Amino acid sequence: MSSSIQLPPIESVFNLNDFEKIAAKVLPEQVYAYYSSSADDEVSYRENHNSFHKIFFKPKILVDVTNIDLTTEILDSQVDIPFYVSATALCGLGNPKGGELDIVKGCADVNVPHMISTFSSFSIEEIAEAKINENQIQWLQLYVNSDRKITHDLIVKAERLGMKALFVTVDAPSAGNRERDARFKFSAAENNGPKVMEKSKDKDATTNGTSRTLSKLIDTSLTWADIETFKKLTNMPIVLKGVQRVDDAIRAAEIGCRGVVLSNHGGRELDFSRPPLEVLAELMPVLRDRGLNKNFDVLIDGGIRRGTDILKALCLGAKGVGIAAPFLYANSLYGSEGVELCTQLLIKELVLSMRLLGVTKLSDLNADFLDLSGLFARAITIPRTTVYHDSLA
Ligand SMILES: Cc1cc2nc3c(=O)[nH]c(=O)nc-3n(C[C@H](O)[C@H](O)[C@H](O)COP(=O)(O)O)c2cc1C
Repeated sequence: MSSSIQLPPIESVFNLNDFEKIAAKVLPEQVYAYYSSSADDEVSYRENHNSFHKIFFKPKILVDVTNIDLTTEILDSQVDIPFYVSATALCGLGNPKGGELDIVKGCADVNVPHMISTFSSFSIEEIAEAKINENQIQWLQLYVNSDRKITHDLIVKAERLGMKALFVTVDAPSAGNRERDARFKFSAAENNGPKVMEKSKDKDATTNGTSRTLSKLIDTSLTWADIETFKKLTNMPIVLKGVQRVDDAIRAAEIGCRGVVLSNHGGRELDFSRPPLEVLAELMPVLRDRGLNKNFDVLIDGGIRRGTDILKALCLGAKGVGIAAPFLYANSLYGSEGVELCTQLLIKELVLSMRLLGVTKLSDLNADFLDLSGLFARAITIPRTTVYHDSLA
């Protein structure tokens, strides 16, 4: 799976969107199709990002903004930045040699927390060993297997390897209908399926699309009762990833989860699921009202590409934000150097935007800095034809 188009020098990347633009040209077609595909007509995918464009700032003036502090705390870990690398399966498709290991390397300098996918190309032992600093923050993202022993063993192993939190993905009982991806056959045996698959009965599966193969390893019968079981198995804080409703977030807090990620899986699951930013705006006042916002971190992901996107989420009450696709493209194109650049670009944008907003530290951010009047407006722009995907154009 190779592409004949030459990789431009890393200096040609000015922002996170540039990584995807280059990836679309340079990555093998099948890899880009899996990485970029989202559900059905990709409306949620687009709205995730568009939702950030519906919020405007109300900057304060005449504040001394010489020193900007980006430090905060996420899930009891001190961090120098309010974002993390969210889980992405099969980083080895785009970066066969380095895969997830290059993400670990690229996260070392700033200690960007890294959420490791259950469906990583490398084993979690290899990923844990790749740490450059002992204090690097790693979390495990969990897809629950129908053979619960496999899942329980993985949880115990992750804790032993020093992972600091367990993110149980709850928005993906089956892979969404991702048609860009489905147009390519995926053979787990030929294409380096995920490491966890080696012992699976589906290890030689060939399906229409990478997502379908991975979906075979996810149990459709996961319920709240399983979360109770996981709590008994581990001391790692448990976070539900993929919460999309206020009442589910409240329930997670009430049963003792340490947090939630408001997410629709980057628009890859149920099309027309709401942008997580809207859910965040609804949720935080309710959590505060009920006194449930202490020891309960609300994180958010989906469509976050700019420092200003991050600031908007933090103003609304998020503790931190997850970013997936841009780091995946950066790693696929430029390895750990790309991951470092992705981080540095976000830091640069955050520092500048905080100065221009008139704040010096993250704890100063609040909804008073935002004009939210357009947030809930619906204006879905869908092409008039039934042809939605570039691959059909
Ligand atoms: C190629 C790809 C693979 C993904 N794999 C996983 C995964 O293995 N587990 C998971 O919980 N989420 C997975 N996600 C979802 C991300 O963790 C995250 O929720 C979402 O992509 C965030 O949106 P963003 O890509 O716009 O930043 C994946 C996303 C992409 C793009």
